[in-house]
Amino acid sequence: MSFMQTQMLIDEAVESLQSKIDDTAIIACSGGIDSSVAAVLAHRAVGSLLHCVYVDTGFMRKNESIEVAEMFLEMGINLKVVDASDRFFRELEGITDPEEKRKIIGEQFIRVFEDEKKLCGAKFLVQGTIAPDWIESGGGERDVIKSHHNVGGLPDDFELVIVEPLREFYKDEVRSIARVLNIKSSERQPFPGPGLAVRVLGNLTKERVEACREACHIVETRLQDAASAGKCDLPWQYFAALLPVRSVGVHGDVRVHGETVVVRAVTSLDGMSAKYSPIPHEILSSISTEITNALKGQVNRVVYDITHKPPGTIEWE
Ligand code: XMP
Repeated sequence: MSFMQTQMLIDEAVESLQSKIDDTAIIACSGGIDSSVAAVLAHRAVGSLLHCVYVDTGFMRKNESIEVAEMFLEMGINLKVVDASDRFFRELEGITDPEEKRKIIGEQFIRVFEDEKKLCGAKFLVQGTIAPDWIESGGGERDVIKSHHNVGGLPDDFELVIVEPLREFYKDEVRSIARVLNIKSSERQPFPGPGLAVRVLGNLTKERVEACREACHIVETRLQDAASAGKCDLPWQYFAALLPVRSVGVHGDVRVHGETVVVRAVTSLDGMSAKYSPIPHEILSSISTEITNALKGQVNRVVYDITHKPPGTIEWE
């Protein structure tokens, strides 16, 4: 898409938002590209009528909450940060089924939002839903693949008019819009709404989520460094997931019965299909060593996922 075409899409979206929103609106901002684009468009359209809320679920990446707050500050948009992590961990205790996890996370999100809605008296809810979100959540004729947490699940008495400025767009189009809007996270890789919760298979304890957070951080920084040094292309998405698979290992002279980290890196255009990235072995090797050193006693095996989408999905849950 050319700059002019993108600018036209932006103008149309802002005009459409202006015609739809005539009272206080609220939006959940994760800092990701979709919700950030939706927030900037809505802020352009209605200014201070828009209330931006960042919910820290406890499933964010390393340093993410601080970085998002800084990004909004730089864009001159007010962002309220709500730490709801204890509530999320409590509600998810003992839940291991992926769909159940997503439903609970979606519900808790709505609860936190209901509180925020009451506080600001919002009448409209702006959402950064993009086309693959509702298509994979069973829009049209398809089966539900995953319940994307920004789709559906709203209680009947929620009484907010939903406005979705990006509903017809795919990821690559949203990225073009983000670049033209100068949004700092425009080059950031996608991150799922339920966050690390869908990358920690099995029980969601604080300790296991922290391990996944550290492993994700290592994968992100190592691959970014390697790409900057020209050793590989930066994949479209790259992360780690923690598997509840224990295997026997050894650290020094000590036998360890630790869990498994899987490294995932894919190339894709819009997330609807993907190919696993052929990361050079020496980079995978250094990632493996760094993860097992950082998570000594907890993780003693690192594997690389070589599944395309389909038949796999990009995330593991
Ligand atoms: P899957 O795992 O379905 O993911 O192949 C496709 C893309 O969508 C991201 N993803 C989500 N994004 N809410 C989102 O906004 C979600 O619930 C969600 N689940 C997955 C995933 O990271 C990938 O980029």
